[in-house]
Amino acid sequence: MFIFANIMANDNKLQNLIGHCKEYGFVFPSSEIYEGLSAVYDYGQYGAELKKNIRDYWWRSMTQMYDNIVGIDASIFMHPTVWKASGHIDNFSDPMIDNKDSHKRYRVDHLIEGFAETLTIENAEIVLASMDKLLAANDFTGLKQLIEEKNITCSVSGTCNWTDVRQFNLMFATEIGSVADEANVIYLRPETAQGIFVNFLNVQKSGRMKIPFGIAQTGKAFRNEIVARGFIFRMREFEQMEMQFFVRPGTQKEWYEFWKEARMKWHLSLGIAASKYRFHDHVKLAHYADAACDIEYDFPMGFKEVEGVHSRTDFDLKSHQEYSGKKLTYFDTDINQHYIPYVIETSIGLDRTVMMVLSEAYEEEDLSTDDKQDSRVVLRFPPMLAPIKLAILPLTKKDGLPEIARFLINQCKPHFKCFYEEKDSIGKRYRRQDALGTPFCITIDHQTKDDQTVTIRYRDSMVQERIALNEVKNLIMDKIQMFP
Ligand code: GAP
Repeated sequence: MFIFANIMANDNKLQNLIGHCKEYGFVFPSSEIYEGLSAVYDYGQYGAELKKNIRDYWWRSMTQMYDNIVGIDASIFMHPTVWKASGHIDNFSDPMIDNKDSHKRYRVDHLIEGFAETLTIENAEIVLASMDKLLAANDFTGLKQLIEEKNITCSVSGTCNWTDVRQFNLMFATEIGSVADEANVIYLRPETAQGIFVNFLNVQKSGRMKIPFGIAQTGKAFRNEIVARGFIFRMREFEQMEMQFFVRPGTQKEWYEFWKEARMKWHLSLGIAASKYRFHDHVKLAHYADAACDIEYDFPMGFKEVEGVHSRTDFDLKSHQEYSGKKLTYFDTDINQHYIPYVIETSIGLDRTVMMVLSEAYEEEDLSTDDKQDSRVVLRFPPMLAPIKLAILPLTKKDGLPEIARFLINQCKPHFKCFYEEKDSIGKRYRRQDALGTPFCITIDHQTKDDQTVTIRYRDSMVQERIALNEVKNLIMDKIQMFP
């Protein structure tokens, strides 16, 4: 009963968050006037700022805070052989099952996980352990048997009438050039990592990089995901922030542990409690890995992967060397040896991080007193990540107050994102800024004209205090600092 109530509350939270994101310009369904496109979303004016702030924070954490990590920006289109060498053409597939009555297709693990969410914790663990075992053994007959034994039904038809389990490749293919034949097929990249591997020597040589070193990049990736659910959690077009760290063979275990810890530290630097995260070690390792784990966050739908840390061995560079016929070895002057480096990868989804930050920030707060019913929706973003840092609000549209507000905006806007508004009562304007997650509001009133002071109002505590007009810029700059 308790679990059911919890699921309902979290489901409501997710639905309310999705509604809020649309109403306040964070995330819209793609092509909404044409009924949308499944698992594709657009970021609105505030969502785009939030996403950019998170991307910038990650980029700075990697390329500025580590002096042995550099960033690149590789193309989405790559030579088709890249995907043969990486194993994506042969292996980038998931076990799928179709319901014969509704013709709806499911990823087998998602179908079973969805069922497990309806069980008690003990029973869910038993079912998930059986699933993990069968997945690790690639036992498709066993997976179908498990689905039938547990009478797991399709959410559309309500029946348990399933096809056999089959593999389904997730890459989108398109054509390059004007002649449509096999030779011109290229793929939209399903991960940004390969753009780093094929540029490994370019960067190492041009940057005179010494191992251990890392190459970071952010960018779009595309996957033909079958199950479209969870808002921006699982999309067909999404953005990744990946870093490949090249190390001497034999040292990969210690670097794997290093990056697990470093990435968890980064997550905690977002101000999120450690209890909202956990590591999940992979049972079934990808074709390229000798160790791998997910960092999971407690989303409104439960603990789910937000980032992966993978020890990718020398699989990718070795394979690209073989397929391209180009030598991709590194000469280590410390030990006088040529070798293909091993790689530790950190791979985090930007959209999932946006969703994590939104889920964490979203709060419906009851402000009722004995005399009055009141509430607000507030997004408690870390100030550094907030789309707007400072709202500047003249109390009235006249008496020279807008002019003072404009003066302040001009002083602040080269340094951080400001917002100006003179419509509505001040209370209503504060609430709107709470809903956008703006950490600070400044009100210019008639007293400002007399003593050059303004009211600063803090989003989280709603406390208001008077400060000098000429202190505003430095005070806000101080408060929006964030260090990884
Ligand atoms: N280069 C390794 C790699 O791509 P992955 O676990 O498949 O590994 C890494 O993806 C991260 O990318 C995930 O942890 C997740 O945050 C994000 N991601 C993967 N598929 C996604 C999707 N369909 N929609 C949104 N984010 C996704």
